[in-house]
Amino acid sequence: MDAKDVGGDLEKILITAEQIDARLTELAAEIDEYYQGEEILLVGVLNGAVMAMADLSRKIHTSTRMDWMAVSSYGSGTKSSGVVRILKDLASDIHDVNVLIVEDIIDSGLTLSWLLANLRSREPKSLRIATVLRKPDAAKVEVEVDHVGFDIANEFVVGYGLDYAGRYRSLPFVGTLAPHVYGA
Ligand code: PRP
Repeated sequence: MDAKDVGGDLEKILITAEQIDARLTELAAEIDEYYQGEEILLVGVLNGAVMAMADLSRKIHTSTRMDWMAVSSYGSGTKSSGVVRILKDLASDIHDVNVLIVEDIIDSGLTLSWLLANLRSREPKSLRIATVLRKPDAAKVEVEVDHVGFDIANEFVVGYGLDYAGRYRSLPFVGTLAPHVYGA
């Protein structure tokens, strides 16, 4: 899928596929340098992180394993409560394991903050975070993030794993949608 496949739905492209690729190469190098050859368990947060996981993992030279979690916020369709329930838990035990959470975006930070507390209670050897995107102006809780691809403005973005109503995840770039898509 590319821009031409979504017709007039796009407003603008914020970050191109080439920019994402180049930045992920840099993040992978940072990650390799940090872990110094110690094996990493990459934990992808479904669904948005699938693209980041596929691309970032293939750029990391350190030995990695992969696992996945799916979480959902409670409440009225918003993430405002920060209370999350687990839809799919990890398949593996992370006790004494180097865990690197892989996210597509950190918005309010509430999902990640909950996830960090949850995973920390399982006593991993280390627990770090890599995200492709972060919205500093949307933060409701401060979360220290170890590897950040791009800090972006507080606007609704799609593509590279990010959806609107389940769609647009497979766009290879990050962009914003035209207002008519939202019913405006
Ligand atoms: C997105 C994203 C993060 C979370 C970030 O997931 O993948 O997990 O929101 O938001 P926060 O910082 O405000 O908590 P979402 O719940 O939309 O599910 P999805 O990955 O399946 O799209």
